[in-house]
Amino acid sequence: MRRLYIRTYGCQMNVYDSARMTELMTPLGYASVETPAGADLVILNTCHIREKAAEKVYSELGSIRRLKRAKEKTGGNMVVAVAGCVAQAEGEEIMARAPIVDMVFGPQAYHRLPEMIAKATRAGGGVLDTSFPPEAKFDHLPARTGDGAVSAFLTIQEGCDKFCTFCVVPYTRGAEFSRPTEEIVAEARTLVAGGAREITLLGQNVNAYHDGDSGLGDLLRALAEIPGLPRLRYTTSHPRDIDGGLVAAHRDIEAVMPFLHLPVQSGSDRVLAQMNRRHSADDYRRTIARLRSARPDIAFSSDFIVGFPGETDKEFRATLDLVKEIGFAQSFSFKYSPRPGTPAASLPQVLDMVKAERLDELQSLLRSQQLAFNRDAVGRVLPVLFERPGRHPGQLTGRSPHLHPVHATVDDDMIGAVLPVKIDAVQGNSLAGTVIEGLGA
Ligand code: 5AD
Ligand code: SF4
Repeated sequence: MRRLYIRTYGCQMNVYDSARMTELMTPLGYASVETPAGADLVILNTCHIREKAAEKVYSELGSIRRLKRAKEKTGGNMVVAVAGCVAQAEGEEIMARAPIVDMVFGPQAYHRLPEMIAKATRAGGGVLDTSFPPEAKFDHLPARTGDGAVSAFLTIQEGCDKFCTFCVVPYTRGAEFSRPTEEIVAEARTLVAGGAREITLLGQNVNAYHDGDSGLGDLLRALAEIPGLPRLRYTTSHPRDIDGGLVAAHRDIEAVMPFLHLPVQSGSDRVLAQMNRRHSADDYRRTIARLRSARPDIAFSSDFIVGFPGETDKEFRATLDLVKEIGFAQSFSFKYSPRPGTPAASLPQVLDMVKAERLDELQSLLRSQQLAFNRDAVGRVLPVLFERPGRHPGQLTGRSPHLHPVHATVDDDMIGAVLPVKIDAVQGNSLAGTVIEGLGA
């Protein structure tokens, strides 16, 4: 057995890619390990979305370097690979800056991993593959085996054609590509056979999904037919691509969970135009209203960027107003981070101090909304899908339809079951509750 250590940074698409890489390497005699010390193959699956995310890779490579040298002293060898979006964007630079790296490859080339390892081992490193290969990655990966997780990810779409002016994704992940419905349904069936009870469909622009004339709403309908799959989610969506079919899917399909991550980035129309988002703040409000009338219990989360080049205080206030008006269950917010090669990086920048103040103010508003949303669950009975052992013996942790983590005292064999839970209290970002006996969920 050889030891494989993968460290995953960034988004859920990277989590999915790491799982597929593990499945690719298992038949070749590799087993996953929890730490890089002593590993035969180390893969850092990286994220390039903000500067901080990219910097982490170089500092991690510093400690991997010591482990590699230690292994060499005992006559062993450690192959070090950098994968993902930093690899795609800065391939040559990584090779130059961190000579211990043997292989660098982008998100579209990882199906070639076995060949690359062979090459790197023969040549003593120096393998760079940041191409967008003509052969489709998904056609060259072995069929899913799944790792038995109750909640599984399934990538259905990759890439982005939107070109928001702050974003590296169209450059690192390439053009939009949707997998065929048939292939996705087959993969979902395998995951369900392996124990999945919830599938989150992934895509950089997941609601731009299409197969011929059918869109994400149709795909959700097809997946909802699979027996033993009570929950479906999808992320990340663009406000422009929420169409009637998708709204109807939220209205009609019980398995589609009433929670949607819908990034808005800003509440100012001028900033939205500068970002090339191609929708106004009012378009966003109308989309939220349509979804709420289709599914009244739907909750929303969002992404925000503060301090985009040229953002005035008044424009920032427009973001706060939008947040107050809509009310989010959960959110992610960031200081604008100039990314090399993107249009917004060359515009005059907002001072970091101003960005920091705005971020503080926005985050405290978002936190108070999240807390209010969590408190509102107390006293209610929610269907909870139990996923894993909890913090304390005898406890399991699961998720409510609104993605709250919920802890409750319940037998281990209930992992994978949806049970009614009366919510007793808020504990940080989670809820604590009591399973209601005798009530089927
Ligand atoms: N600076 C700050 N935040 C960014 N995001 C994407 N690019 C940048 C950037 N250059 C944020 C957006 C996006 C989320 C995944 O990351 O809010 O929705
Ligand atoms: Fe980036 Fe915009 Fe595409 Fe999202 S929609 S991945 S933010 S370019």
